Amino acid sequence: MSASKRQMHLGIFVLGTGNHSAGWRYEGASASNSSRPVLESIARTAERGKLDLFFISDGLAMDAGDHPSFITRFEPLTLIAALSMVTRHIGLGATVSTSFDEPFHVARAFASIDHLSGGRAAWNVVTSASEKAALNFSKDRLAEHDLRYEIATEFVDVVRGLWDTWDDGALIADKATGTFIDKSKVRPLDHKGRFFSVKGPLNIERCPQGHPVIIQAGGSPPGQELSARSADLVFSVVNGDPVAAKAAYDALKQRVVKHGRSPSDLPILPGVMPIVGETDEQAKEQLTRLQSWLTPTNALTLVSQRIGHDISGYPLDGPVPDFPAHTERGQAFSKALLDMARREKMTLRDLYNVTAAARGHWVICGTPKRIADIFEEWFVAATRLVPEGVFRLHAAGSPGPAAARVARRRVATCGCAFVVSGWVTVCFGDEAGSRASRSKLRDVRPRPTLP
Ligand SMILES: Cc1cc2nc3c(=O)[nH]c(=O)nc-3n(C[C@H](O)[C@H](O)[C@H](O)COP(=O)(O)O)c2cc1C
Repeated sequence: MSASKRQMHLGIFVLGTGNHSAGWRYEGASASNSSRPVLESIARTAERGKLDLFFISDGLAMDAGDHPSFITRFEPLTLIAALSMVTRHIGLGATVSTSFDEPFHVARAFASIDHLSGGRAAWNVVTSASEKAALNFSKDRLAEHDLRYEIATEFVDVVRGLWDTWDDGALIADKATGTFIDKSKVRPLDHKGRFFSVKGPLNIERCPQGHPVIIQAGGSPPGQELSARSADLVFSVVNGDPVAAKAAYDALKQRVVKHGRSPSDLPILPGVMPIVGETDEQAKEQLTRLQSWLTPTNALTLVSQRIGHDISGYPLDGPVPDFPAHTERGQAFSKALLDMARREKMTLRDLYNVTAAARGHWVICGTPKRIADIFEEWFVAATRLVPEGVFRLHAAGSPGPAAARVARRRVATCGCAFVVSGWVTVCFGDEAGSRASRSKLRDVRPRPTLP
């Protein structure tokens, strides 16, 4: 398809208090992530703006030093079920961990929400990286990183298998004959694996999409392998190094091919957080103001979480310590942030300023035109570099049930957009695009403002 015919997909990574950790302190901004009116208003705004995806992240433990929207948050499936009642087109993505749930529950819940929403459900498969979460689920500790992915791989297979235990048209409900279902179209799963044993079939008929969309965001080798094997789209982290980004892109696409799929079956969806102002200067002032509201406690907690190492004992104005990127926690953010810190010779204070702003995502700021120009540059660069196309705005919103299976193969880009009081935070993009935008990124990257 030619570049002129392709459109850009945009999604919103929703945090009720704003994506910036201190966004809630902005005049007029929401200070709650557990308010139905706030989240409903964001969903309606996103839908009106023709965004493709409303995405809810999740964690299974509370840390008082965390991003405010992680301190108090709705259970994601409950939230998207409620929002499916007040939206019509937008895709609804919810995060559920494979480390603390059962495949039958998850298959059933997403099938239910797919029915309730008319084919708009998406599952962000995560393995969870918080030791504290284990303590909430009768466990002493998390399974080790790679084992979590082995569990996740079987978990996803079982969920997909359960979704396939019902064929289309199995529900007959013939009043004349009294036949309710066609038994030949419903079968058990009879799964007996290393981690799960599930008889099936599911106790809900096949959902509109057949298989709700599967999202994956792990960037470690086993995370990439799970994406390549089973995901419909991938969230990734970019931070300005086009060579590393392109290499990661190519490596993932090669894995996709290895699994007998086409590279275009797995769009990669990096994140960005733009701060918008009426002028570039005003946008920068907004960002500086937001940064000045962060507390060192917030920042230290966020950076330690993201890189998987406790930085609290290190001097802030010294270089970023030579931590290994390999961590038992999440490796995607850890690698992106530590690579960036080394490349740009950052101090720990630089790193925590960058991380605290958008939790490790790419931050840009400027006028709406400047932001749109950057998006366009990314899009055009991606067109040249990524022939199957990675950016596309689905102007008519997400498709209804009839088109839903095709939708699973849509090429999309995602991330997050939260609009409040005239500024916006958005995650979007593609690694390939970062080449064109690197100079702009350097201009707008937040610099130290924290004490
Ligand atoms: C954009 C994005 C969103 C994510 N959302 C969540 C989330 O909501 N909950 C969670 O536990 N992990 C989340 N993660 C973490 C990953 O899904 C993954 O579990 C983690 O990075 C560990 O995997 P890795 O070592 O393969 O990177 C997210 C990662 C990215 C890049």
